[in-house]
Amino acid sequence: MAMALLIGWASCRADEGMWIPMLLKKYNIEDMQKQGFKLTAEDIYDINQASLKDAVIGLGREGYPFSHFCTGELISDEGLMVTNHHCAFDMIQSHSSLEHNYLRDGFWAKTKDEELANPGITASILVRMEDVTDRINSQLTPEMTPEERSERIKQVSSMLEKEAVEGTNLQANVKPYFNGNQYFMSVFKIYRDVRLVGAPPSAIGKFGGDTDNWMWPRHTGDFSVLRIYAGKDNEPAPYSPDNQPYKPATFFKISTKGVHEGDFTMVFGYPGTTKEYLTSYAVEQIQEIENPNKIAIRTAKLNIINAAMESDELLRIKYASKAASVANAWKKWQGEVKGLNRFNTVETKQQEEKAFRQWAAGKPAYANLLDRYQSLYAERKDLVLAQAYLSEAGMQGAEIVSWSARVYNTLNSEVFQKNPQKVIEKIRAAAQEFYKDYDTETDRKILVEMLKLYNENLPAAWVPAEVQAAASKGVEAYAAALFKKSVFASEEAFNAFISKANDKSCRKLEKDPAYSLYASIYRFNADNIAPKLSRIANEIKRLDEVWLAALMEMQPERHFYADANSTLRVAYGKVQGYAPCDAVYYKHFTTLNGIMEKDNPEIYDYDVPQRLREIYEQKDFGNYTQEGEVPVCFIATNHTTGGNSGSPVLNAEGHLIGINFDRAWDGVMSDIQYNTEICRNISVDIRYVLFVIDKVAGASHLIDEMVLVD
Ligand code: ARG
Ligand code: ASP
Repeated sequence: MAMALLIGWASCRADEGMWIPMLLKKYNIEDMQKQGFKLTAEDIYDINQASLKDAVIGLGREGYPFSHFCTGELISDEGLMVTNHHCAFDMIQSHSSLEHNYLRDGFWAKTKDEELANPGITASILVRMEDVTDRINSQLTPEMTPEERSERIKQVSSMLEKEAVEGTNLQANVKPYFNGNQYFMSVFKIYRDVRLVGAPPSAIGKFGGDTDNWMWPRHTGDFSVLRIYAGKDNEPAPYSPDNQPYKPATFFKISTKGVHEGDFTMVFGYPGTTKEYLTSYAVEQIQEIENPNKIAIRTAKLNIINAAMESDELLRIKYASKAASVANAWKKWQGEVKGLNRFNTVETKQQEEKAFRQWAAGKPAYANLLDRYQSLYAERKDLVLAQAYLSEAGMQGAEIVSWSARVYNTLNSEVFQKNPQKVIEKIRAAAQEFYKDYDTETDRKILVEMLKLYNENLPAAWVPAEVQAAASKGVEAYAAALFKKSVFASEEAFNAFISKANDKSCRKLEKDPAYSLYASIYRFNADNIAPKLSRIANEIKRLDEVWLAALMEMQPERHFYADANSTLRVAYGKVQGYAPCDAVYYKHFTTLNGIMEKDNPEIYDYDVPQRLREIYEQKDFGNYTQEGEVPVCFIATNHTTGGNSGSPVLNAEGHLIGINFDRAWDGVMSDIQYNTEICRNISVDIRYVLFVIDKVAGASHLIDEMVLVD
């Protein structure tokens, strides 16, 4: 039994894994070529000459440039870039109003002058990677506590980062890989002027909406077009009208050849987080506690937001982006639970752990490893439940609560003491953004629901005092009073408050009911949850490091990959359909016909734009067809996760065939357990992107910038 399991482990299929570009030459390229890839490892990653990596962009935000929220790719020598519609959703939304409803109608800059700036968005290009494991390990001793280790690692990392970019305009970032068994430094050049060039209407870019999200068959034209700008010297510069389109070292050529089942594909981008080496104890908690409770809280939130959006077009704009992000994780958690159940992940892991216990018997380094996990997770159980409510229903429940904290913390800072006027201006700008998309009535309803759930679903010992007080007053009455009295409840009241802000304002806010509620939740966390959870997390982190090292020792033949950590990775596999259940096989591609089949003006998510209906009637498809039909999306076996959205999907020649944007429902558990039979990444076919740009948007000047190859 144990032997069979070991063999099962060792032979995981090639499609699984997210590989480190600088190590492809050593570990993967032979296999990739065997699967059909025609280029070399140096074509993908080379630090001495241009390689494909120079055309892959990590999209981030000022202040957090290394936590890439999405990926993009360069497709012209003038800095033109594509990513997903949902990746640029915030940008499109913030440029939208009832007069210029770019979310609904789409947006296309006719000239470069019309391209719209997006302050705060960053575009990182990887310059090089370096293995710094030895330099970090040499600073660690076995005597260190988990906290001391973490602290030391942080110190050494930041020293290495500084040293690596001294005297340059680059930025470096060290991250742990393989649960901290190795460390790599990524050095980036980070551009800071990223403009919106075009986006299709949401009825194309978000076609199917949250109904089809995480599902296959899919018909979403999930793409948008951006452009990177640089200073006159082609180097990063903050936004300026004088900036020039960035001239990249290289960019992706676009393949019009078509996509066939069995074709080699590779995804090159910035996957965020996976947890493939969790123990059964951890998976059990995700499946039984964390996901179900977070799902329940978000269901309540979404019921309110969706009803508001249905009732009014302005509310639809205001809440579009918020609803999409709440719904996205909400649905993913459900798919994840379903997949973990279906594939008996916990049982499989228990079997593996049993085999491990046998192997580890008599090896002192690993003695009690699993027992220590078990007791830490037992200790963590109630805490994660409490934390789910604290964050989902408390801190990120009603927006008035988090907004009050943001203002309070800004006013309570040293910067405010030094330069009050400047800080007030900053708060005013943030307030304008906040109230633009805020609806008091919707938020009040959310607060009521959150307070209710918080009290009903948790034992009183885990409920902060003020949340309990709300229940004893009656949550409706409590919320009504809060919204009546709080200065945060309306833009007018807030403006009146902030125009008189001075060094006593914080004291005043401490009596504000919205802030008081926040303060009570915050204090409860600081006293009862955060310190314990962070100690446990640190101990688990240390165990995770040992656990993975042990697995590697136990299975010397197995080819391990490092969990995703928002660094650049390569996943490769094949274009392939799949069987979701008995008697059903899903084809690997969808077409425009399927959009028309779904068309229904009565259903918001399926209301096809009139222009697209006309093109379909007239069969005005240009060259964007395969066997007479316009392809829309396709699926493949590439191992991807959140953050991979917008990633280039390449063929065997390294040409762009699609833009990655999602995964198929039956395989959404792939962050925890990948399964080649059923896990599929979903991409929008690049020919559909061209079709929409050309035929729907009439923006063929953009296509003229690109290089199309057969
Ligand atoms: N599920 C995809 C991802 O995780 C797409 C999300 C955006 N679409 C949406 N309907 N919310 O990001
Ligand atoms: N939709 C995800 C993203 O935004 C991709 C995924 O989770 O598969 O990165």
